[in-house]
Amino acid sequence: MKKTRAVITGVQGWVPDYILTNRELETMVDTSDEWIVTRTGVKERRILKGEDKGTSVIGIHAVNELLKKTGTDPKDIDLIICATVTPDMPFPATANIIADGVGATKSYSFDISAACSGFLYALTMGSQFIETGMHKKVIVVGADKMSSIIDYQDRATCIIFGDGGGAVLLEPTTEEIGVMDSLLHSDGSGAPYLHMKAGGSRRPATYETIAAREHYAFQEGSTVFKFAVTNMAEVSANIMKKNNLASEDVAWLVPHQANKRIIDATANRMGIGPEKVMLNIEKYGNTTAGTLPLCLWDYESQLKKGDNIILAAFGGGFTWGAIYLKWGYDPK
Ligand code: UT7
Repeated sequence: MKKTRAVITGVQGWVPDYILTNRELETMVDTSDEWIVTRTGVKERRILKGEDKGTSVIGIHAVNELLKKTGTDPKDIDLIICATVTPDMPFPATANIIADGVGATKSYSFDISAACSGFLYALTMGSQFIETGMHKKVIVVGADKMSSIIDYQDRATCIIFGDGGGAVLLEPTTEEIGVMDSLLHSDGSGAPYLHMKAGGSRRPATYETIAAREHYAFQEGSTVFKFAVTNMAEVSANIMKKNNLASEDVAWLVPHQANKRIIDATANRMGIGPEKVMLNIEKYGNTTAGTLPLCLWDYESQLKKGDNIILAAFGGGFTWGAIYLKWGYDPK
């Protein structure tokens, strides 16, 4: 009997309209367009403005459009997994709100918190539910409203992050396509270098935590950079080796968009030229769990059935990993 795999049968991204440019950031913190572009590759990022708008807004837009373009009835969705570190609220799960917003009334849903690697974790988990035969249609969302936890007085973080995300539909196949393999890692000893100090159970919100600006993402950039370069490159090389893939076998690298220098180092280690590397950091910045589906969405029209694709990410936790997949369809 042929093995059942999970294949991506559609992808859709969504970003808010407001564009925060490097020029505007120059008026907010002591930085320059030149520094940001050369050190990170980011030129602009999107910001979700408006009262009472959380990450679910991004997810609902992406999933609604995904359902439309794949001709899927929301009532046929079995499960929605949302990867995010900026949930609408601590509970209920943002995935619950997305499911309600798109009319997926027969599904159940939950969130995954694995920061920038969240989409890799969620895609791996969603695929397992398909492979076991338990579900037929699973939606995996990766989305973050990073502007809700970014300190726009902190030039070390506000220049990289932005809001946005996307979603994929997973369905079963017995063809030699789909999610082939994944390598996932985490190491909680990395927490001191990338975290949010207050607002959780350890340090609930008080006047003091707010005055001390502890409800924002804290990052020790250069330390995270070193771990990111090493681990993202290594896990990408490892998944190629494990699956006997040479550089020329790989059609695309889909790297987490945190810093162009990290992306270049990963591609170098894999022996992959820039023409095979998905890149949109210049227009969206780092959308945390949103970067990978946003890349797939931007490059969808260039992907062909059977293309070997490596997705790779590194982020808060620390968490990191890579997925090897064979693309499921030709451009429509
Ligand atoms: O997505 C989750 C995982 N996150 C990442 O992978 C991010 C990893 N880290 C990075 O991408 C980089 O560390 C940053 C982009 C955050 C910072 O770049 P860096 O090259 O590591 O800079 P740095 O923190 O080592 O700072 C170098 C210099 C410092 O000045 P001095 O001490 O050399 O005079 C900083 O004060 O650059 C200065 N600096 C800035 N200057 C202008 C730091 N931020 C800025 C800024 N504008 N925005």
